[in-house]
Amino acid sequence: MKEKLQAMRDALERELDAVRASEDVEALRVKYLGKKGELTGLLRSMGSVPAEERPAMGKLVNELREHIEGVIGAKKELMRAAGMQLKLEKERLDVTAPAVVRPIGGRHPIAAVTKELEDIFIGMGFDIVDGPEVEYDYYNFEALNTPPGHPARDAQDTFYVNDKVLLRSQTSTVQIRTMEKTKPPIRVVSPGRVYRSDAVDATHSPMFHQMEGLVVDKGITMGDLKGTLELFAKTLFGEETKLRFRPHHFPFTEPSAEVDVSCFVCGGKGCSVCKKEGWIEILGAGMVHPNVLRGCGIDPEVYSGFAFGLGIERIVMKKYGISDMRLLYENDIRFLRQFG
Ligand code: PHE
Repeated sequence: MKEKLQAMRDALERELDAVRASEDVEALRVKYLGKKGELTGLLRSMGSVPAEERPAMGKLVNELREHIEGVIGAKKELMRAAGMQLKLEKERLDVTAPAVVRPIGGRHPIAAVTKELEDIFIGMGFDIVDGPEVEYDYYNFEALNTPPGHPARDAQDTFYVNDKVLLRSQTSTVQIRTMEKTKPPIRVVSPGRVYRSDAVDATHSPMFHQMEGLVVDKGITMGDLKGTLELFAKTLFGEETKLRFRPHHFPFTEPSAEVDVSCFVCGGKGCSVCKKEGWIEILGAGMVHPNVLRGCGIDPEVYSGFAFGLGIERIVMKKYGISDMRLLYENDIRFLRQFG
């Protein structure tokens, strides 16, 4: 019996040494201490031990059981700690390693200025609306008081899909689409692309951007137009900015004006940005023509309104001192990066 106990102790020692995974330690515990375990079996066979030797034997068996429990417990703890150590090492984070810098894109200057303009008008209570770039002749010309054969069509020659469908030459189309859908009071701006069959040069492009503005309500006057544009120009170019209205003609507004701002670089003295003029033309505007209102089912005896349309590229170029419009469309990253 004594030898058996010693042999079991030695075997366990060897087996524990060979163990690599914590499940194997548990397997050993079952092998020796489980219900059908070797030591448990030994205890059961105590009946065959002579009565006078039983107490001494029992003591030895108990000692061995305590020993086995002890070494298996210790081994388990050891494996747990080693496992933790391994995990920590694997998941180590070097906080001093240089970060991976991901390049962040920036807004294109046209998009940036468009957003700036939108924000100014949102601040004045305007809604932003959208309109299609492929448009009916009706919205681009006819409903804007410009019937077939009208000389104003020549100035805005565009690309035709067929007799009735074209690429819009102005965002003024959105005036009509808005008035058809909504009843006054109306206060909207609409930025977007427009097209004209112009050859490309430093100041012309067959595609460019405009932003239309339209206000219709009872009692809207030219004073409202001037006040709105003045607040807009001062917010965009600075508090000292002055406006100049020059009489002009648009078929869909009466009276009409071209509007200049005092040069925000030289303040009006004359410099290269304003071409020594002191003024920079930024938009066309006027009071919505009664024919246009009537065509949209709005009674011009009850309602009046103003509209304006500004060229976004012009503002971008003046604001950033860009002399060639083509730079805005070439997508040269060295150029665009400057606007971050
Ligand atoms: N649509 C005109 C243009 O492109 C600008 C404009 C808009 C003028 C609204 C008056 C009112 O030249």
